[in-house]
Amino acid sequence: MKTDSSDSRVTQHVRRLAAGEAPGARLPSVRMLMRELGVSPVTVQHALDRLTREGIIEARPGLGTFVAKRAEEAAPARADYAWQSAALGPARFSLRGLAGMMSVPPPGAVQLNKGYLPTALQAGPLLTAAAGRALRRPGIWDPMPVDGLPELREWFASETNGAFQPRDVIICPGTQAAIAAAFRALAAPGDPVLFESPSYTGAMASAEAAGLNIIPVPADENGVRPDMLENAFHRTGARLFYCQPNHANPTGASLSEDRKAAVLAIVAQAGALMIEDDWAHDFHLDTPAPLPPLSLRDTNGHIIYMRSLTKCAAPSLRIGAICARGPAFERLHNARLADDFFVPGPLQETAIQLVTSPSWPRHLKTLRASLRDRRDALAAAITRHFGPDALPQTLPGGLHLWVRLPPGVSDEELARKAAEKGILISAGTHWFPAEPPAPYVRLGFAHADPQQTEQAVATLAGLVG
Ligand SMILES: Cc1ncc(COP(=O)(O)O)c(C=O)c1O
Repeated sequence: MKTDSSDSRVTQHVRRLAAGEAPGARLPSVRMLMRELGVSPVTVQHALDRLTREGIIEARPGLGTFVAKRAEEAAPARADYAWQSAALGPARFSLRGLAGMMSVPPPGAVQLNKGYLPTALQAGPLLTAAAGRALRRPGIWDPMPVDGLPELREWFASETNGAFQPRDVIICPGTQAAIAAAFRALAAPGDPVLFESPSYTGAMASAEAAGLNIIPVPADENGVRPDMLENAFHRTGARLFYCQPNHANPTGASLSEDRKAAVLAIVAQAGALMIEDDWAHDFHLDTPAPLPPLSLRDTNGHIIYMRSLTKCAAPSLRIGAICARGPAFERLHNARLADDFFVPGPLQETAIQLVTSPSWPRHLKTLRASLRDRRDALAAAITRHFGPDALPQTLPGGLHLWVRLPPGVSDEELARKAAEKGILISAGTHWFPAEPPAPYVRLGFAHADPQQTEQAVATLAGLVG
């Protein structure tokens, strides 16, 4: 029987051998590795497959396994790609720090820049069981309906407490895809789109990629400011507003009760659509129930609502939903069809098996307890080292803390210096559509192992000086 530990022992062994040899050198055969390490052929093959995928070794059928050529040696000599930039013209959008957040971290790094759960907090065993059941369903590899499997659409609709019916739901491969489809389907290149400032970098990158013009609307600890929102609609004639009313990423702020009605009235008055990204629906860390989405109050189809399973189950369960009514639904349906037809059946069925399993509510409860512990430990360390004004009075739900730095400190320089010390953080500048009003950093607490938190925050404070 293969085990993870024997697998990684073989992988490490061959990795070490490859590192000590020149590109092209022959490596020991499968048989030799089996004998030397006392493992099965399957275990050796798994390790070799993995190292082949990583580009460290290459198999030459009939000849054996060899150390792969390094990337620079494999590149064709004197290739000239300069003509491509001339053909492509200027880049249309910036990734605004997104690449760093999504990159594979160096080994041992403290990952305070992440917006997903670490392996230990994911619904791993539940997902394994759900995927096993899903794969046994007949017809699982057949084409799926464009809007998704009826049972999954029903589940997402039921989670909205009546704001949407199953017929209003389109299953997407995560909400990033839903956001991208919405910007393309609901606006035309050159149109203005309003964003709370600060806001989610991934949505800003998507809006720019769709050719939209981002208009920042200031937000504070109670969410977007209604006076500024009204003014921005008037001034720009925008018909689209991207917003996170609950536990916004990056600030954690939620739209206060008294602002909810005002915001909805302003959107309706402007004859506009609002994208409500409820990404942190399950991360209500201090209340027994989730904060109600704004779409519950919307009767005339102004709100396009989004929700995802990647955040609370695992990043690779790329399942999200976009909910809409009226012609906006049709536009979104058509956009999704033109994008990629449908979300793979095995993934949708796995999602159904997962969320209908009796253990799912328990997973969410345990997850929230762990996140609360991590948040509280990180917040306490921040207050100790950065002072009481670095964080808002009330700690937010979600996955991040938005830390205000002392005046004059460069958030980008701090992020760079911290990375050199193995601590990954996200500079606040990336999260503002325009000039930041003050320096901030976003620290994620999902990966903040309480054992490492104190030391990591002390190091950050040391770098600030
Ligand atoms: C606010 C917000 N919306 C949407 C997403 C996209 O998530 P996914 O595509 O994994 O559902 C993210 C991911 O970080 C996010 O922070």
